Formats: sequence, C-alpha cells, structure tokens
Amino acid sequence: MIILKSVITTKTTAIAHSNTALIKYWGKRDEELIIPMNNSISFTTEALTTTTTVEFSEELTKDNFILNGTEQTGKPLKRVVDHLAIIREISQTNVKAKVYSENNFPTAAGLASSASGFAALTSAATNAAGLKLDKKELSMISRRGSGSSCRSFYGGYVEWIANNEQNESYAIQLADENWFDIRDIVVVLKTPERKMSTRDAMKLSIKTSPFFKSRLDTLDTNLAKIRLAIKERDFNSLGSVAEMDCLSMHSVAITSNPPQIFWTPDTVKVMHFVENLREEKIDAYYTIDTGANLHILTIPKFEHEIVKQLEEKILPEKIISSKPGPGVKVVNEHLF
Ligand code: DP6
Repeated sequence: MIILKSVITTKTTAIAHSNTALIKYWGKRDEELIIPMNNSISFTTEALTTTTTVEFSEELTKDNFILNGTEQTGKPLKRVVDHLAIIREISQTNVKAKVYSENNFPTAAGLASSASGFAALTSAATNAAGLKLDKKELSMISRRGSGSSCRSFYGGYVEWIANNEQNESYAIQLADENWFDIRDIVVVLKTPERKMSTRDAMKLSIKTSPFFKSRLDTLDTNLAKIRLAIKERDFNSLGSVAEMDCLSMHSVAITSNPPQIFWTPDTVKVMHFVENLREEKIDAYYTIDTGANLHILTIPKFEHEIVKQLEEKILPEKIISSKPGPGVKVVNEHLF
C-alpha cells in the first residue's frame, strides 16, 4: 500500500452496518495481522448500525473512546487505541483522537458489534486523518481491528479473501444489496456472560479441535455453492449451505478443549422451531455466531409469519428483522 503523508483534516463521521456470515470465518493464519484460515461470505445487515465520529486534536494527551454515552476503559479502549495506532502509523502522525460511537442495537445483547464498530472507526479515522483510501485498502486496515469488520465496507453480499498471491487479505463485493432480497430475522435471547472471547475461542479451536482441519476441507465446495446461490438468487441453496456451515463451525467450537458451547436451551429450541417451519413449507434456515442469538434467514414473503410465530411460541427478548444493507458511508452529522 503506497500512502503519501496525510494532512490531519477535520472531524469525520461514518456509518457502518454489521454483517451476518453465511460461511463463517473461524481461525487465523496470522494472529497479529488477522489473516484468516479461510475465505468467508456474509451479507451486510441493514438494521444493525454503528455511527462513529473521530476527531484528531493536538490538544489531546491521550485517545478517548465514548460508546453509547459511556467513557470506555480497559479492553474496549485498548482495542480502539491499538487500531488508531495502526492508522497513525500509516498517516505518519502521533496526534491523539476523540472517538464517539453509537450502536443502534443493545451492545449487551450479544449482537456482534465489532464488525460495524471497526468498519465505522476505520472509515471515520482514516478520513479524519486525511487519508484517501479505497474500499480494498480500508478493508485491509479494518481487518486488523476485527476480522469480520472488513466485510462491512460493501453493501449486499461480500467475500473476504483470506489470502491472494500478493499475500493480501481483503473483502470484495459479490452482489449489491438490491440484487437478492432476503431477510435476516435476528432472534435476541438471554445471553449468559461469555467466558471466552471469540478471538480466544477460535485460537483454541485451531489448537485443540480434531475437526478443525475437516471443516477447512469442506469450505471450497461450500463457498462455491454460496457464490452460485447468490448469483442465481437461489434462497434454499443459500440457506441450507449457510445452516450447514454454521453447524460445522459450531462442531469445531464444541469439540475444542475446553468445549466452547455458545448455545443455550433456548437456542436449540429456536433451531427446532426453524426445522418445524420448513415442515410447514416456510423457507427458513438459521445461522448462529458466538452467542445464544440466532439469525433466521428467509425470504420477504415469510417474514411476517415467522415473526408472528416467534412471538407466540418463543417470546424472545427482542426480534430485529433486517434486509441486506449498504456499505460504509461518510455523513455530515457528527456525534459531538
Ligand atoms: C463467528 O471478527 O469478531 O462471527 O477477528 O478476532 O475480532 P476477530 O473476530 P471476529 O469473529 C467473527 C466470527 C464469527 C464468524 C464470522 O463473522 O465470519
């Protein structure tokens, strides 16, 4: 990446949407640079957003990070400071920054906020530092904050290329958000406090799960099936392969030592609920990340029926229905 010395300019605000993985990223080849073991494919989720304003100022003696109105310390602050350090190194400056972030979804609900969070931070901070970067470059920087965030730069359906001949790892768009209209019904359940971070859990899986390698062996076929399903707008193929890949990722997590079981009894109840929907000829599949919550994938015509049945039979904490959304945007309204 060739970058000219930047000129610290102005306060910048960016909005990024989260993404839901259809083929999961699980395991890193390089822990420091965050190079994944495998390609992954996601779609950008319109309903889950992070808005972040960044301003660099000579007057600051340290970086500040305010999330949903609360000044952050410890680990969350460190991750932001470490990411700002990468951006400062590229822009050859040592000026500190003020970062304000707001999620439009409850952070404590166990919904992945690192994807939208780091995508918004990378976009706002690089712009505020005066760097003019394209989405490929942005995705490569963002990846180092949190891997899955690199997929949020694009709208619609996105693939994260693990590694190419130039040893680069970045996201590309497979189809935009208007190509294939599906629904992601996020079922928010009571999530117990996690004992291990996603980062540590995937590291443990590589070291200890006897199924880690077998999962990698299935990925080329499944990635090809998902790409084709997106291209042909074949929902049942997309949903069934995504569900199988979710189960494959969780099989690896469950067979790690110590076992990483992210599901609660309610998670399993919703898994069976989705199987029953299919028996009723309702096209629906689930996918789950590192928590108790599920994403029910469906097509627009079944959305209301599924939400109605969830309210009757499951009574989750919250239901958030989303369609595929756009990529990162820089906006003019700032948070401070
Ligand atoms: C299960 O991107 O949160 O959601 O790179 O260590 O920050 P780090 O991990 P993160 O992992 C996401 C894992 C996943 C699958 C996925 O989104 O592909």
